[in-house]
Amino acid sequence: MQHIPVLLRESLELLAPERGGLFVDCTLGLGGHAEAVLQKAPGARLVGIDRDPKAIELAARRLEPFGDRVQFITGEFKDVRELLGQAGIERIDGGFLADLGVSSMQLETPERGFSFQREGPLDMRMGGDGMTAGDIVNGYSEGELVRIFREYGEERRSRRIAREIVERRRHKPLESTTELRELVAQVSGPRRRGRHFQRIDPATRVFQALRIEVNEELAGLEKLLDNTVEMLEQDGRLVVISYHSLEDRIVKHTLRGMARGEVDQTTGRTRSETQAIELLTGKPVRPQDDEVAANPRSRSARLRAARRL
Ligand SMILES: C[S@@+](CC[C@H](N)C(=O)[O-])C[C@H]1O[C@@H](n2cnc3c(N)ncnc32)[C@H](O)[C@@H]1O
Repeated sequence: MQHIPVLLRESLELLAPERGGLFVDCTLGLGGHAEAVLQKAPGARLVGIDRDPKAIELAARRLEPFGDRVQFITGEFKDVRELLGQAGIERIDGGFLADLGVSSMQLETPERGFSFQREGPLDMRMGGDGMTAGDIVNGYSEGELVRIFREYGEERRSRRIAREIVERRRHKPLESTTELRELVAQVSGPRRRGRHFQRIDPATRVFQALRIEVNEELAGLEKLLDNTVEMLEQDGRLVVISYHSLEDRIVKHTLRGMARGEVDQTTGRTRSETQAIELLTGKPVRPQDDEVAANPRSRSARLRAARRL
């Protein structure tokens, strides 16, 4: 199974693994970025974290040639401090990478239910436990559905879609990805209206919203950023690639806050004394046209990076 690493050249430039030291890939996936880090820098070691045991299994196979330079942890990145602590690691001198979202392996496995283009159960769990998308669709109140479609999908038709879901499930629970896709398509009407064609599938936003809710994606992100910056040694790097504006907004604001520093009312420490990081990217780095042409999944990627002061 293929997953082409996104913004690979740019990630390596900003992580600068040639400095050597310990790097943590918080979203190991199929190990594409991790492999490139280990290849580029013989002096670098890497810990790979992923909540998906299947991803860890596949990446471990791929990274076998690097022997004990690499180590694997199954878990959620919001717990990065505890997970690394259990492995006896307190400080990171190299850097952290987080390439958020789902991997092509997850998207292309129909039984996992991430893709509306493939018939599958409404699952969408990246790890193996917790609530599924089906539990949400069939169990949340109409109001809760409206809220998640609006907040996490920025979906304009949230009310109508939620109402239709509640109406349908009265007769029979919604079970499959294609069933949900068709329901959204019916509510949305034709994609072509006169000369206007809606480029993205109308189900995209609803699927994004459910995936964020199932995996509590946004809540974990802020915690990840706080924890990683705290664990970095001076000059250690943090590189984050996000795939939708909600994620990118969190990354942008959290990193900007840490780069600005705050006046500490109790100790009287000034802004410049509390600045934790320097931003290495002003505007987010976007993929070049040739990358988007070769790998359409990279289209929405935005990379932001920082260096620990
Ligand atoms: C876009 S893929 C990473 C691909 C990888 N960079 C590569 O080149 O192969 C994102 C990965 O992050 C994992 N992931 C997403 N959210 C996570 C979380 N909260 N904790 C740990 N892993 C997570 C997913 O399971 C998925 O395997």
